[in-house]
Amino acid sequence: MGQYKHHVFVCTSGGTCPGQGSDLVFAALKKGAAAAGIQNSVRVNHSGCMGQCGNGPMVAVYPEAVWYSHVDVAGAEQILHEHLIAGQVVEQYRYVAPPGDNKLPK
Ligand code: FES
Repeated sequence: MGQYKHHVFVCTSGGTCPGQGSDLVFAALKKGAAAAGIQNSVRVNHSGCMGQCGNGPMVAVYPEAVWYSHVDVAGAEQILHEHLIAGQVVEQYRYVAPPGDNKLPK
């Protein structure tokens, strides 16, 4: 286990996720973690493209390697409370795809 209990990556600099609201998702997770007092055990980082463009905003949570897609602010709050605090994967937003790039056609 690393420095943090959870490491959360939000795609905020790729070609599509920023236009789908990923900055709002990042802010909700970052501020939510601080408000919940878990900022020392949960690290929320910006990420570049995860190769899943068009399925975003994309969020990845490690060490579980659970990926979420189409995450909105409500979803970010759900991931914060259910996954990062309570330890339950949020199936509603869970993303499962074949390995590698899974970009939607433009
Ligand atoms: S822009 Fe987010 S996965 Fe590519």
